[in-house]
Amino acid sequence: MKTEIIRMLKETDGYLSGQELCSRLHVSRTAVWKVMEQLRGEGYEIEAVRHKGYRLVQAADVLTAAEFASFMSGRQLGNQVDCNEEIDSTNNRAKYLAEHGAPEGTLVTAEVQTAGKGRRGRTWVSPPGTGAWFSLILRPEILPAYASMLTLTAALAVAEAIEDASGLSAGIKWPNDVVVSGKKVCGILTEMSAEPDQIHYVVIGIGINVNMTEFPEEIEKTATSLYIESGRRIRRSELIMSVMKHMERWYRVFLNTSDLTGLKEDYMARLVNLNRQVTVLDPRGEYRGMCLGIDDNGLLLVKREDETMEKVMSGEVSVRGVYGYT
Ligand code: BTN
Repeated sequence: MKTEIIRMLKETDGYLSGQELCSRLHVSRTAVWKVMEQLRGEGYEIEAVRHKGYRLVQAADVLTAAEFASFMSGRQLGNQVDCNEEIDSTNNRAKYLAEHGAPEGTLVTAEVQTAGKGRRGRTWVSPPGTGAWFSLILRPEILPAYASMLTLTAALAVAEAIEDASGLSAGIKWPNDVVVSGKKVCGILTEMSAEPDQIHYVVIGIGINVNMTEFPEEIEKTATSLYIESGRRIRRSELIMSVMKHMERWYRVFLNTSDLTGLKEDYMARLVNLNRQVTVLDPRGEYRGMCLGIDDNGLLLVKREDETMEKVMSGEVSVRGVYGYT
């Protein structure tokens, strides 16, 4: 009933009469009133006016099953949501659920992560209530070697969702950091369980700095949040659902060819490294070159100073801008 009420309130421009709520939901006025009180307790601003009814002034910034269900997307990705208050890592939880049969499209969220994981064994700062920390379970029928391209696909979806939600222009630092004004707002960590020729599942873990106002000293110079950049607070449930929407589209495009042919152009249009000098931190030896884009498999094309071409694979190396983070 809670989901239904949130949905009806969201769909109604003005006031929604108590009478209509009761007859559509087949419940008493007291039952409706109780849910309204509950929702207020969660942070939903709901106005009640005699003889007019209820009006949603502002939805709460909460990551609850009822809030997600109220979007009624009809999509596959994000159709099932596992909402957690506090958890070590949404990726760990998603892997556990995937091991136990959770279907493709299952979304795992958390208000706070106590051991958020970043790439290369780093930790991911995930304070309560201010970020979008979530993981998506996919079960693509592709070879495991192609799975890393899903991370680039997700970066594109996140960049588009960020732009929709905040109006900020979002770029991508290869392979999968989403950046705003030259600073990182989102990181993506993809984990997979597979046999040599078959994927059991892929977990795409996404961390977006949404409403944070400050960062620990170590990352202060390279990290930012959507709030810091736009001056606006963004509702995390809407942002996450928008990522699901964009991801659903690009995921289908990716699956058509099992490579990035269909999304390369959109990805490259956001690539902040494009036509810039980069330093490739290859364990076999660091080198500099000009970034010329990506190929159909998501490898970064770098022209070295001696004019030879390199195809850089993510995971093996990291790439820095010559003059800073991007
Ligand atoms: C990076 O280092 O850039 C990747 C960071 C990925 C963080 C997200 S937050 C949600 C999900 N759960 C985790 O433990 N990590 C990812």
